[in-house]
Amino acid sequence: MTKKLKVGVIGLGSMGSTHLDIYSQISDVEVIAVADSIQSRLDGSSKAEGNISGQARGSVGGLKARKYIDGMELINDPEIELVDICVGTNLHFVFVEAALAKGKHVLVEKPLARTYDEAKKIVQLATNSSSNIMSAMCLRYWPAWVWLKDAIESEVYGKCLSLNCRRQTSPPDGAFYSNHEKCGGALLDLHVHDTDFINYCFGMPRAVFSQGYKGPSGGIDHVVTNYIYEQSMDVPLVSAEGSWTMQDGYGFNMSYTANFENGTACYLLDSEETLKLFRSGHQSEVIELKKGMGYEFEIRSFVDEILSGKESNLVLLNQAAESIAIIEAEQVSIKSCLVVTVKA
Ligand SMILES: NC(=O)c1ccc[n+]([C@@H]2O[C@H](COP(=O)([O-])OP(=O)(O)OC[C@H]3O[C@@H](n4cnc5c(N)ncnc54)[C@H](O)[C@@H]3O)[C@@H](O)[C@H]2O)c1
Repeated sequence: MTKKLKVGVIGLGSMGSTHLDIYSQISDVEVIAVADSIQSRLDGSSKAEGNISGQARGSVGGLKARKYIDGMELINDPEIELVDICVGTNLHFVFVEAALAKGKHVLVEKPLARTYDEAKKIVQLATNSSSNIMSAMCLRYWPAWVWLKDAIESEVYGKCLSLNCRRQTSPPDGAFYSNHEKCGGALLDLHVHDTDFINYCFGMPRAVFSQGYKGPSGGIDHVVTNYIYEQSMDVPLVSAEGSWTMQDGYGFNMSYTANFENGTACYLLDSEETLKLFRSGHQSEVIELKKGMGYEFEIRSFVDEILSGKESNLVLLNQAAESIAIIEAEQVSIKSCLVVTVKA
């Protein structure tokens, strides 16, 4: 029998439950421990919800795993090889630091850390460690976004002239999301997905211009940003909007419109998921996407990386850290109403 990777999951909220569901479908992984400071989540008598249909389906019910009330105890469990950190963002740095110090492999939910300073320290710790580490920037693995990255890089429809990304939802539930000191508001928690994807495709912008307003977290919960790459009138024109200030019942959606020299791609995920391509002189096309969510492909890819003995890509980790520097520049831009140079 092949050896299974022994995993411990810390934090059994919406993301911990999503990760448990995915691990249960991977044959060479065994979740041997879970931790949560809320007893009812640990014993399975209460459960968090996700914002995307099909998410957060995993549960501790029926799982033969050791249970810890404090994530640090799980990190000290010598049998665990991969520590999966699904606690709130304000705790990412301390748990990553402790897990790497114990020689564990680390998967840490996005954003990599609460601040760019903490994220930089994580990159430094990872550089000095022989463990594998991944920041769970799931859009990099989400089929419609993988398609987009490939279209931008390959220039199969010509150069990308503009990209606009949008992500909107009603306010998420829970103490973590109602405290901007912990979650960073929608500006960091939600909008980082698009900021990071833009950084992943086009690199660090020279500057940003953002506007936004405060919402239920007490921080910036609705933001609109222009990412400035070149002098004005040059391409690409890149912008993103993120908000969790929509009224109850609105649900969740994410979308993009990418305009290329020879094609326009429009993606929308709400209750359904569609990617359409328009090309002058052609019938409009619906692009067939691989079934599944980015979380699944991201975790499978990280598990494969560990089991095949490959080193982690620290350039990608550093990019996840730099995305937080961009977000911090967006915050300064919102407060000052000025174009702000991004420094990383
Ligand atoms: N990849 C994505 O699309 C995505 C989506 C949602 C959330 N997230 C990220 O995932 C992280 C968690 O989000 P969530 O929605 O699951 O939050 P949550 O608040 O629902 O869950 C976090 C859990 O961690 C537990 N916890 C806190 N401190 C602990 C400790 N010391 N030891 C053990 N358990 C502890 C809490 O009790 C809670 O159950 C956040 O960083 C968030 O930004 C990512």
